[in-house]
Amino acid sequence: MAVVALMSAKGAPGCTTAAQLLAALWPRPALLVDADAAGGDVALRLPREDGAAVDRDRGLLSLLSLARRSLSPTALVEHAQVLRGGTELVAGLSSPEQAQAGQALWDNLAHALAAARDHDVVVDCGRLTAGSPQLSLAERADLLVCVLRPDVSGLVHARERLGTMQEVLQAGGSGPLLGYVVVGRGAGDRDVVGARAMLERDLPKVRFLGLLADDREGAGVLAGVEVPRPERTLLVRSAHAVVDEVARLVGAAGQPLGGTPPVGGGSAAAAAEAEALGARRAARQRGSRRRFGKGAAPVAPVVPLGERLSGTPVLKSSSSTGAGS
Ligand SMILES: Nc1ncnc2c1ncn2[C@@H]1O[C@H](COP(=O)(O)OP(=O)(O)O)[C@@H](O)[C@H]1O
Ligand SMILES: [Mg+2]
Repeated sequence: MAVVALMSAKGAPGCTTAAQLLAALWPRPALLVDADAAGGDVALRLPREDGAAVDRDRGLLSLLSLARRSLSPTALVEHAQVLRGGTELVAGLSSPEQAQAGQALWDNLAHALAAARDHDVVVDCGRLTAGSPQLSLAERADLLVCVLRPDVSGLVHARERLGTMQEVLQAGGSGPLLGYVVVGRGAGDRDVVGARAMLERDLPKVRFLGLLADDREGAGVLAGVEVPRPERTLLVRSAHAVVDEVARLVGAAGQPLGGTPPVGGGSAAAAAEAEALGARRAARQRGSRRRFGKGAAPVAPVVPLGERLSGTPVLKSSSSTGAGS
C-alpha cells in the first residue's frame, strides 16, 4: 500500500540500519526489501526466526530472475523470509554483478512492489544515482528518504544527491515525496542544526523527517549483537518519532490495510487462507514492534557470526568466485 525507499549519498551513514528500524517498528505489516545494488547486508546481520541463516538465493535474486514477465503482487511475500524479531525480508543480492539484470526486470519488480495490497514496503536502495538499476524502485515509492550524517562531506554529498533526485524523479510533477533523516548526536547539536538550516535553504521542498541517535550500541542491535534491552537504546528510542512521521506522511498511521481481493473470484477457502495469512503477519509485526517497545522482553542470544555465514552462498561459492579470499 505504501512504499518508503531509503537511500544514502556516499559513505555509510546508516541507511540499512534505518531501513531495518523502520520495518521493525512500522505500524502495519511491512516487508523490508534489501535493494542495495552493491549487495545486500541484512541477510548477513540477522538470522531467520528458525535460527538458520537467511537463504540469499531467495529474495531479490529469485525475484529478478522471474521478472521477465510481470510479477504478481504476492510474489514479494512468496520470496520473503522472516528474520528473528519478526521482520519479513526480501534478501538482497550477493554482488553488484547480479544487479546488472536488464532494466526491464527492475521495472517489473518496482511495479509489483507498488501493487502490493496487504503490506507496506520499506526498500533499502543503498547509494542511489540517476544511473542506478534500482532507481525504478525509488521512482515508484511514495516517499524517498535520504539518510545522512551532518558532517561536511556527508551533508554536501546528500544535498547534491537530493537535488539530483528531485530533478530526476519529480520532473513530471509526479514521483515520490523527498525527505531526509539525520543520524546525529541530538536535535540541539550544532552540526545537526547547521545541516537542517542548509538543506531548508537549498532544498525547501525536501522535508526533515527526524533525527536518529548516533548510537553504536543501538546500531549493534540491528547488526545481530546481543543487547539486553534494545528498546532502551538511544537509537531505538529516537526511531519511534521518525517512524511516526514517515508513517503519517505516507498515510500508514492509524489506517488499516485494504487487503488483497481474491484473484479471479477466488474460492471461499482461498479467501479464508488469505485472511489467516494476513492475521499471522499482523501478529508478527505486532511482535516486532513489541520487541522494541516499552516492557519488551530481553532478546534471545543471536546466532554467532560463523554459524550465520555457514551455508550461505558467501562461503558456498567462495572457491568459484574468489569471494572471501
Ligand atoms: N544510528 C547509528 N549510530 C551509530 N552507528 C550506526 C548507526 N547506524 C548505523 N551505524 C553503524 O554504521 C555502520 C554502517 O551502517 P549501515 O546501516 O550499514 O550504513 P549504510 O547502509 O549507510 O552503509 C554499521 O557499523 C552500523 O552499525
Ligand atoms: Mg547499506
